[in-house]
Amino acid sequence: MGTILLARSPNSPDVIYAVNPTCTHAGCTVDWNVARELFVCPCHQSQYAVDGDVVGGPAPSPLPRFNVKVEGDRVLVKPLPG
Ligand code: FES
Repeated sequence: MGTILLARSPNSPDVIYAVNPTCTHAGCTVDWNVARELFVCPCHQSQYAVDGDVVGGPAPSPLPRFNVKVEGDRVLVKPLPG
């Protein structure tokens, strides 16, 4: 499954998103920018919303997402079907 980044929704703290942090432009690893509430790629500045959708830069497609389920103090992540 590789590396997975988890981020809480800025608008709904109970909602957690899980994405593959590999930028869809050229494969650099994105970072979470707390102030901008975006994933930002350090290589060519692609920007992704907390749910992985592209909001700026040269990225051609969203970050792949995973299903997230919270059970008590555990966060379960699994690939989306399909
Ligand atoms: S590798 Fe991420 S914007 Fe180019």
